[in-house]
Amino acid sequence: MIHARIAGTGSYLPGEPVSNHDLVQRGIDTSDEWVATRTGIRFRHLASAETGASDLALIAAQRAIESAGCEAGDIDLIIVATSTPDYIFPSTAALLQSKLGIRNGGAAFDVQAVCSGFVYALTVAEKFIRSGANKRALVVGAEVFSRILDWSDRGTCVLFGDGAGAVVIEASETPGIIATALHADGSHHPILCVPGGVASGQVIGDPFLRMDGQAVFKFAVKVLGDVANEVLDSAGVEAASVDWLIPHQANIRIIQATAKRLGMPMDKVITTVEKHGNTSAASIPLALDLAVRDGRIQRGHRIVIEGVGGGFTWGAALIEF
Ligand code: ACO
Repeated sequence: MIHARIAGTGSYLPGEPVSNHDLVQRGIDTSDEWVATRTGIRFRHLASAETGASDLALIAAQRAIESAGCEAGDIDLIIVATSTPDYIFPSTAALLQSKLGIRNGGAAFDVQAVCSGFVYALTVAEKFIRSGANKRALVVGAEVFSRILDWSDRGTCVLFGDGAGAVVIEASETPGIIATALHADGSHHPILCVPGGVASGQVIGDPFLRMDGQAVFKFAVKVLGDVANEVLDSAGVEAASVDWLIPHQANIRIIQATAKRLGMPMDKVITTVEKHGNTSAASIPLALDLAVRDGRIQRGHRIVIEGVGGGFTWGAALIEF
């Protein structure tokens, strides 16, 4: 049986951290106290105007490839999860493939599931590897959410940041990604969306992120608890035997509520939301890479990753690292 195993991780945050106080200095009508107590966020990173998602993805990918001990040319599948692509087309994955110097490579495509994007992309890549179609996949979450924020809307602009995280997964005789679950319910799209697009050379609709924060909060806590239990049940694994929970990093109160529902103590939960806010599809691989590099996550540890995002979409994976 072919398994899909994480061989390496990498991440990248652009520029210097921008604190809540810095946002106040920039004229946003907020305070460190308001943002930190409601969300746990203290800093975010904001990419420069000329930096696209593919640029952030490139550095995270190079770090993941190095940590996997392989070469870019060994990658035969690239999936980038992003809701803030460089262009309408080509895909960010195709641009990343080019920047990595891969020519005549395997498939490269984007997955758009907003903050669940990395869980979706990892699950798709896992299926390709386990089918025997591919040997080594690069899975990236990369976002420049600062581009779709309405900086006059203090209820949303303080919550998000830019960044990228990546993993290399490869065919292996040992697990591996043990179980995955993906879900969507598009009927909830109005509570979190960017309800605009481009047509005939013009922006049609509203090009900024709009959110009903309280509705999102309630929905996120419910589905994150459910989907984590779903992957554990499908693998016959107790929450108590999981070493680490890596939830999507949107809000510390959502993370705490989810951990409580699973009966997991917070010292088994990787949290990075304080340092970079909500980086959407990048948040889970950013947190994974941090905890691998600081030595908390070790080979053989069991990890649950889980995400929820606009769509609504949600999903989880149980991984033996
Ligand atoms: N600074 C200061 N005051 C603010 C700010 C701000 N940045 N934003 C809103 N306020 C004010 C509002 O104007 C309002 O004032 P009023 O009472 O005078 O009208 C007051 O704070 C309360 O506003 P609410 O929107 O009701 O605040 P709430 O307590 O619900 O907190 C928050 C808002 C933090 C967004 C919360 O609803 C939340 O965490 N929701 C989850 C949303 C989330 O994490 N989304 C991430 C994307 S989704 C995802 O990744 C799954």
